[in-house]
Amino acid sequence: MVNLTIDGKQVTVSKTATIYEAAKEAGIHIPVLCYAKKLLPYGACRVCLVEVEQMKGRLIPSCTTPVSEGMVVITTSDEIKKVRKTVMEFLLVNHVLDCPVCDKGGECDLQDLAYEFESISNRFEGEKFDLPTDEVNPLIERNMNRCVLCGKCVRVCDEIVGYGSYSFINRGFETKIATAYDRGLDCEFCGQCLSMCPVGALLPRPFKFKARPWQLKEVDSVCGYCGNGCTVTLGVKDNKVETIRFNDKIGVNDGNLCVRGRFGYSYVNHEDRLTKPLVRKNGELVETDWDEALQVVADGLSKAQQGQGAGILSGARLTNEELYLLKQVAKEVGTENLDHSGGECYKGVTEGLVETIGVAASTAAFPQIEKANIILAIRSDFYETHPVVGMVVNQAIRRNGAKLAIVADKKGKLDKLPGAKTLLSRPGLELDVLNAMARLLLDEGLAQTEGIEGLEELKAALADFEPAQVAERTGVDLETLQATARQLAGAENSAILMAYGMPYQGLNKELAIAAANLALLVGIPGREGSGLYLCGEKSNSQGAIDLGILPQNGGKGAQQMLDAAAEGKLDGLYVVAEDPLSSYPDRDKIAKAFDKVPFLVVQDLFLSPTAEQADVVLPAASFAEKDGTFTNAERRIQRVRPGIPSPGEARTDGDIFSALAAKLGCRVTFTGPEAIFAEIGKIATAYAEFNFNEIGPQGVVWGGEILQPVCKKVIAVTGCSSVKGDFQLVTGSALYHSGTVSTKAKGPMAVLPEPYLEVSREDAKTLSVVDGDLVKVAGNGTELQLKVKVGNRLPKGVVFAPYHFAEANVNRLYKGEPVIVVTVSK
Ligand code: SF4
Ligand code: SF4
Ligand code: SF4
Ligand code: FES
Repeated sequence: MVNLTIDGKQVTVSKTATIYEAAKEAGIHIPVLCYAKKLLPYGACRVCLVEVEQMKGRLIPSCTTPVSEGMVVITTSDEIKKVRKTVMEFLLVNHVLDCPVCDKGGECDLQDLAYEFESISNRFEGEKFDLPTDEVNPLIERNMNRCVLCGKCVRVCDEIVGYGSYSFINRGFETKIATAYDRGLDCEFCGQCLSMCPVGALLPRPFKFKARPWQLKEVDSVCGYCGNGCTVTLGVKDNKVETIRFNDKIGVNDGNLCVRGRFGYSYVNHEDRLTKPLVRKNGELVETDWDEALQVVADGLSKAQQGQGAGILSGARLTNEELYLLKQVAKEVGTENLDHSGGECYKGVTEGLVETIGVAASTAAFPQIEKANIILAIRSDFYETHPVVGMVVNQAIRRNGAKLAIVADKKGKLDKLPGAKTLLSRPGLELDVLNAMARLLLDEGLAQTEGIEGLEELKAALADFEPAQVAERTGVDLETLQATARQLAGAENSAILMAYGMPYQGLNKELAIAAANLALLVGIPGREGSGLYLCGEKSNSQGAIDLGILPQNGGKGAQQMLDAAAEGKLDGLYVVAEDPLSSYPDRDKIAKAFDKVPFLVVQDLFLSPTAEQADVVLPAASFAEKDGTFTNAERRIQRVRPGIPSPGEARTDGDIFSALAAKLGCRVTFTGPEAIFAEIGKIATAYAEFNFNEIGPQGVVWGGEILQPVCKKVIAVTGCSSVKGDFQLVTGSALYHSGTVSTKAKGPMAVLPEPYLEVSREDAKTLSVVDGDLVKVAGNGTELQLKVKVGNRLPKGVVFAPYHFAEANVNRLYKGEPVIVVTVSK
């Protein structure tokens, strides 16, 4: 610690603090402009100048100057005020004064500073910039006439996002911020730069002229897309979510958001939202009232249960409280057939973790990733599935020098981070790479074996996974494989990350086990600073696991329900917040299942392809209309708050379940989410220690920041053999989308509006195709046409198609197999 005096006040702060931070801690105001808590010190604007007695003769920037013992600081004097005014004059030399029509007016740092410094004149009158506004992209408007060159956009895009869109160009008065070749912005549109910009130089276009900041009601909630669980602040006006604001003071995301979280909210305002219950009469879906609709559902599900049985298939975007009520509905119906989101992947990962570490959850909270010396990402590119986790990885590398290795079948953005190495494996063989690493650790005596069960069986089973042979058959680089395993074993702190969800078919249990094996052999679970992270695709995937939205007592899981329905052996299916026809593997089988099942209920926001097949459609609420909790992929339980009412007669899933349970004869009623949350503790005991009303802005992490494993058991797993074929199709998430709901959101659709088939440059040459050409993709007895996108992420012979677009029918090409063989032709 260091002792210093600021404006006569004795202050004791950490020796790594700057003068600005020390003053802030002591409650002393120093104005800043280019400073941002989450960015590295920069010192561009000079607004924060102070006097230091030991450095007489000059003013120094407080935001970049570290404190030292005995320092005496003065933050306000006539000299400082005079210089700050001059700094303001320089800042305003080029800046156009169009505050009345600038969307930033009222929350502009420059306006605030001008007011604070009483800057009413400027001695440096010169020609103002008259640069054209960049409106090339649909999401971010760049008006460089308003730029004050603070460099925050440049730094956030580089230091946190890892994209590096911007740089300073020119010199002196001509200096400006520009993109590559000074063209229009064309990036991944996370909007991090506009959230950092202190003035109106960067603005969200979807929000333009919608409201003045003070007209917005701000409601803190949680992003409804992925399992990262970022805090979002809904900006509401006239009962409409007009924008998403960032707040770096609360939540796990430090104010960081991805394109989905920042620009993907508009689906909640979509004109196609369902507003009335629908019941099929004479073959047509017709509007009805809730009473009739719920009675038909209650009667239909009861009848089905008395016949060959009913099943319930739920999405994982429901709150924990709603999932609890869903279980009540299942109980009243009398069915054990219950599952969430695709089933096989979640079920596999859940089982794999329970068998190895005894608990189906990540073993550490996300901030621990920043402490890692080595990070191993398996299969997914976190920048695409959980973008803000990708940003944490980027910071671990840039700030703390962490090493990054990725085992995957395609390269992604993670691969572009400094020093990152991708172990590019043939599709379906990532498991072999993990097994080879485990074998190396055991062979070289690097494994931590104390207290670990199953070692002998694992050693025997790894006979076929000699690293050199695995490198040969998977295509990965042997030296990188060896180096990664050794680094994992030797590092003080290590992190292993794996994403799971609908886009990942096949070998989920095996991969979860192989990841857990590796984690156990290098002593990750339960160790401070280290973690095994299994990250579910949806906003409440972890909650669905915690609450047991899984087959009960030998009941059917998702795939078994769909199989049974397709075979005419299930009489009723209740599908909640899911569109299996668009996103589950084997679309033809799903279509058959919905065709054959005698009674189908769909509860959703939109009349999805699945809902179109239903006997009853119930209009549900979006995340922005709900009160409750989500549990994110690091086990953090966070409050979801309603910002707007639901459109028309749409109701929250929780209200629908309560009303349906009552129709089914349930007498239990709850006064609200807090009462349900209290009940959840009885079935998910880790939740019992928390009180709903005491969950603060940071949420609460069940099991604590570091979760101790319940058991430590390594298990032998084998994968599939290399499959021959012209092309192997890899499916997955595209950064801008999540599930199918983002295809109803203007932001993601503005950036990525249509399905595509990504092919390598080499394959594009062989096929004689260029961007935008149509190709035929055939496999599993189906042929589709997709637009080509040529990229450099894929090896020869591997093609990629995102799974989000219902109209593309990509899920007709695969049935859940780990390797999908297709042919591609012009
Ligand atoms: S939107 Fe994101 S990726 Fe694009 S320039 Fe801004 S910070 Fe960089
Ligand atoms: S565009 Fe905004 S954030 Fe970027 S340098 Fe200019 S004022 Fe700063
Ligand atoms: S989609 Fe995921 S990473 Fe992006 S803002 Fe939402 S929770 Fe965060
Ligand atoms: S805030 Fe300190 S130099 Fe800009």
